[in-house]
Amino acid sequence: MSAAANFRLDGRVIVVTGGYGVIGGTIARGLAAAGARVAVMGRNADSANALVAELTAAGGTAMAVTADVLDEAQVGGARDIVIAAWGQVDALVNAAGGNVARARSDGRPIFDVPMDAFEEALKLNLHGSIVPSLVFGATMAARGQGSIVCVSSMASIQAISGVLAYSVAKAGIDIFTKWMGTELARRFGDGLRVNAIAPGFFVTTQNRGVLINADGSLTPRSRTIIDRTPMGRFGNPEELVGAVHWLCSDAASFVTGVVVPVDGGFSAFSGV
Ligand SMILES: NC(=O)c1ccc[n+]([C@@H]2O[C@H](COP(=O)([O-])OP(=O)(O)OC[C@H]3O[C@@H](n4cnc5c(N)ncnc54)[C@H](OP(=O)(O)O)[C@@H]3O)[C@@H](O)[C@H]2O)c1
Repeated sequence: MSAAANFRLDGRVIVVTGGYGVIGGTIARGLAAAGARVAVMGRNADSANALVAELTAAGGTAMAVTADVLDEAQVGGARDIVIAAWGQVDALVNAAGGNVARARSDGRPIFDVPMDAFEEALKLNLHGSIVPSLVFGATMAARGQGSIVCVSSMASIQAISGVLAYSVAKAGIDIFTKWMGTELARRFGDGLRVNAIAPGFFVTTQNRGVLINADGSLTPRSRTIIDRTPMGRFGNPEELVGAVHWLCSDAASFVTGVVVPVDGGFSAFSGV
């Protein structure tokens, strides 16, 4: 097959958790535009249906599935619906996640963060990718084929103030990616792959309040981020689509267990 043909996603069945969020929705749009059949997963049926209507109107093939990523039975039900409709699952993108305001320690010592808030952020961002990966991964393993893409963060590699639970969870995603990539390839063959992208900084609903002031100007935190980003700007969510597309496609057939930064150089730069 030609190099270009290896990137084709026509007809591939791809499940996107957090599929109508800012980043998940952008990825779902990109994959649908590339010809994949996209299952948009989240807890809100109206939001999932709205994105499916948009993707379908644009000529894509999409379906909505409602599930809490922390509920194994609900995720299993969603998997069954997708397989009943489309026969298989070729890829899973774990885009559900994000910070939990109560778990943040901006402006207060970490000792004041309630343990239940810590656990909520940890579970959403770690278990929330592990549960779907195990549920859909079992189906992929039985078929000997499938690609899982997790969403890590810059918070997994260096201390970013205010977000301990989120950072611990994303560091967990990095080792989960390596561990599962290793396990699935060794036990079920070279058709199984598990990788992650590590986005740099993108202004989305969940972090807008700490990055942008009410008057639209940048917060001091934003200025620090941009000073530490060699490209000198935030990313646009559309700039994450290429890496996810590649990891879902046969073009990445010998790539597993890696975490790909999409960060404008943030993780490469010492700050000096
Ligand atoms: N924004 C950034 O700069 C940045 C940087 C690095 C990594 N990330 C990561 O990128 C991912 C997406 O972030 P985002 O900024 O696009 O966030 P977002 O717009 O808040 O989207 C999060 C999505 O996850 C879904 N979700 C939350 N809890 C869920 C649950 N228990 N079960 C099922 N779905 C659930 C939400 O839908 P419902 O609540 O309706 O279910 C929503 O669709 C997250 O993992 C985040 O950590 C973001």
